[in-house]
Amino acid sequence: MNIKAAMAEAAEAVEHVMDRLLPIPEGPEARVIEAMRYSSLGGGKRFRAFLVLESAKLFAVSSQCALRVAAAVEFLHAYSLIHDDLPAMDDSDLRRGRPSCHKQFDEATAVLAGDGLLTYAFEVLAHENTHADPKVRADLVLALAKASGTQGMVGGQMIDLLAETTPDMDAAQITRLQRMKTAALICFSCEAGAILGKAGPAARHALQFYGQEMGLAFQIGDDLLDVEGDSAETGKPTGLDQAAGKATLVAVQGAESARAHADMLVEQAGSHLDFFDGKATLLKEVARFVINRRS
Ligand code: IPE
Ligand code: IPE
Ligand code: MG
Ligand code: MG
Ligand code: MG
Repeated sequence: MNIKAAMAEAAEAVEHVMDRLLPIPEGPEARVIEAMRYSSLGGGKRFRAFLVLESAKLFAVSSQCALRVAAAVEFLHAYSLIHDDLPAMDDSDLRRGRPSCHKQFDEATAVLAGDGLLTYAFEVLAHENTHADPKVRADLVLALAKASGTQGMVGGQMIDLLAETTPDMDAAQITRLQRMKTAALICFSCEAGAILGKAGPAARHALQFYGQEMGLAFQIGDDLLDVEGDSAETGKPTGLDQAAGKATLVAVQGAESARAHADMLVEQAGSHLDFFDGKATLLKEVARFVINRRS
């Protein structure tokens, strides 16, 4: 199966699970669930979900378990995007080709919808339907908390905002920030299959290394799209990074050098998959997608 078809199939499967996990309740609190559904359903590449599902296949994990983890990661990712778009952060009005959550609803509802998606991601992981073994569920919760908290995404987002008013961040500092804000969650998505499959440390590390390098390349790809992409394809504004003075490798090294750096990272990422003796071909292919994508 080619990579596009495989990603489309994964996206459809996780969408279905996410939809069922977010029923609209009776009562006035329905508004926050509507905002959660608005921002998490019906869009996005579902790249992180794909990574969870593909890594789980390496260990013959049941698709029901893997899909719940994929849904949890996509809920958490959607939260990060809602908060990232807020006026206090990137102040972006367009997401996935539609008004951002705070534009469609209001800022307070967007904050709560993000909070709701974040906490719900952990509820989904901790539920017994995600894995029969409570140790596996605890490992998933621990790894996702580390990837998304202050050592990972939240910490990276903090540095990303500070960088707007900190001149002269160098490539090493930017790399650290991007590993935290973006690569950590992508790394978790890759590692999740190994956790679900109770794989040994060598397999888990191979997926972590793959996810770290490829996750950094993914953010460089995103930064390139902010400069060179087409808003009609990306579904979000272009030129925001430069206007905000964001610290990116594209800004400090130029697009050509940043692209060469991302190419090298993708090569490096792929080499970690050699551990799986040719069983991880779609993961190898998707690493190329992260630097060649148009959205
Ligand atoms: C955007 O992520 C935010 C970054 C970490 C770069 P994606 O490019 O995966 O966004 P969706 O999920 O496809 O909308
Ligand atoms: C976002 O990076 C990273 C997150 C953790 C949400 P960006 O701010 O570059 O993501 P986009 O371009 O708005 O999707
Ligand atoms: Mg941002
Ligand atoms: Mg942003
Ligand atoms: Mg961006």
